[in-house]
Amino acid sequence: MNLSFAPMEGLSYATFRRLHAGFFSGVDQYCAPFLAPDGQGKVKASALKDLQPELNADLRLIPQILCNSAGAFLSLSRELAAMGYQQVDLNAGCPSGTVVPKHKGAGMLLDLKSLDAFLEEVFSHTVLSVSVKTRLGLSDPEEFPALLEIYNRYPLAELTVHARTRDGLYQSTPDLSAFALAFRESKAPVRYNGNLLSPAHTEKVTASLPGLERLMLGRGAMANPALFRMLHGGEKLEQEELRAFLDALFAAYLDSGIGEHFSLNRMKELWYYVHHMFPGAERELKRINKARTKEDYAAAVQDLFRCGRFDPNSAFPGTIPK
Ligand SMILES: Cc1cc2nc3c(=O)[nH]c(=O)nc-3n(C[C@H](O)[C@H](O)[C@H](O)COP(=O)(O)O)c2cc1C
Repeated sequence: MNLSFAPMEGLSYATFRRLHAGFFSGVDQYCAPFLAPDGQGKVKASALKDLQPELNADLRLIPQILCNSAGAFLSLSRELAAMGYQQVDLNAGCPSGTVVPKHKGAGMLLDLKSLDAFLEEVFSHTVLSVSVKTRLGLSDPEEFPALLEIYNRYPLAELTVHARTRDGLYQSTPDLSAFALAFRESKAPVRYNGNLLSPAHTEKVTASLPGLERLMLGRGAMANPALFRMLHGGEKLEQEELRAFLDALFAAYLDSGIGEHFSLNRMKELWYYVHHMFPGAERELKRINKARTKEDYAAAVQDLFRCGRFDPNSAFPGTIPK
């Protein structure tokens, strides 16, 4: 099995990746949150800094680009190649209401001619291997066969399929039969993504698609950072290692110079997922969310870990794919 940590904007940046890889085994590759270049292919220096090899040592990292201009994509790809990267991923799945109307992210699935022209230009000039992370379509999985026909015209390094349409956002039940078409018919190796939230969710997907080896996990692994290890047959998450991981992460944010306020915000975004490992601990979570200083935060976290609600079998909520 080959397991990939999904790109998660606002969450899975270098500090998180480095600490996660240090505490938990089982991730074959991390996919970085998207870079959104301007028309010339430029991004902020801080966005590129997150991908500096020295901040990402010892882990396989795939950068991702969200844009619909092949020129900008190629120009930024050249910068990534100069930093030592060999592969870049195209985001054709972001469902955001600020992205889709600009025909970016899942909005690229709106106009197949433009998608085809974009890929034609990118694959004619790219210096990197290019993979694509797509959804099944905009509103109907019936859109997928036509999309796949286009993807199959190009030598994609990999096709990750988030088995929902754009309209399904993150809530709809992932559609295994539509995904099965990609798995059967794609010329590129296919990676499954969508609601692999627990070993039971994952077993359902792999049992219904024998031979499927490549999986991508997002929210389930944000809630339970040991999920990759568990899927490789390793131990369940332990309360003490979770505590040590979260404490080390908070200390690393404070050390990184982003300041107390932003360090607290980063941790609160993560707690949105992690608190699912403590079913029924809403009161304690509220205290974490209210913390305005690192001292209040530490006391609230202490309270949560002492409340006795940690359950290693718990998971981020979501339906089993079918
Ligand atoms: C907060 C958040 C940020 C995300 N950021 C990205 C991103 O930068 N690039 C991307 O391709 N997908 C992004 N996604 C989508 C995830 O990578 C993944 O496809 C989605 O969460 C479904 O997988 P899951 O059910 O395992 O969470 C994001 C999702 C969430 C919830």
